[in-house]
Amino acid sequence: MAEGSGSKLLVSKIREGTVIDHIPAGRALVVLRLLNPPGDARVAIVMNAESRKLGRKDIVKVEGVILSPEQTAAVALVAPKATINIIRDYVVVEKRKASPPTVVEGILRCTNPTCITRKPGEPVKPRFKLVKEEPVTLQCTYCGTIITQEEVVNQLYG
Ligand code: CTP
Ligand code: ZN
Repeated sequence: MAEGSGSKLLVSKIREGTVIDHIPAGRALVVLRLLNPPGDARVAIVMNAESRKLGRKDIVKVEGVILSPEQTAAVALVAPKATINIIRDYVVVEKRKASPPTVVEGILRCTNPTCITRKPGEPVKPRFKLVKEEPVTLQCTYCGTIITQEEVVNQLYG
């Protein structure tokens, strides 16, 4: 079942681009921020659509944008159950399951102020190990600090 109730669509199908489906309700805007589409890209967001799997879900559709593997991994950090549908000429040509990366480098910072990655002028890039997929839980490689799902969302949205 697509977004909307019964056979009615809330937003139209797209011709070319990416549809991220099965986003936890409330996370659509974080996902959109991660995708960072060009200012003139056509974007549709559905929030709180009905979902058999999730109860409620969000959907993000971006016309003209095909996600890179790095973007797909980043999306998985905030939407571990998401499906990434690649659309060409109105047809779903590829369906990727989001899968959080086992090592996260660069996109998040350690919350421990004394961590070596937080030292001014210290060229140590933050690095985390995935310790749990859902809710996403990460651990700093350097100081062992645990980063929770909420913290990941806050940092990526901030
Ligand atoms: N979609 C779209 N434009 C298209 C084709 C599909 O916006 N040209 C959207 C659909 O509305 C749906 C998602 O892409 O939200 C996935 O499409 P499809 O695989 O046809 O739907 P389902 O079979 O319901 O997907 P799933 O099994 O992954 O739940
Ligand atoms: Zn640390």
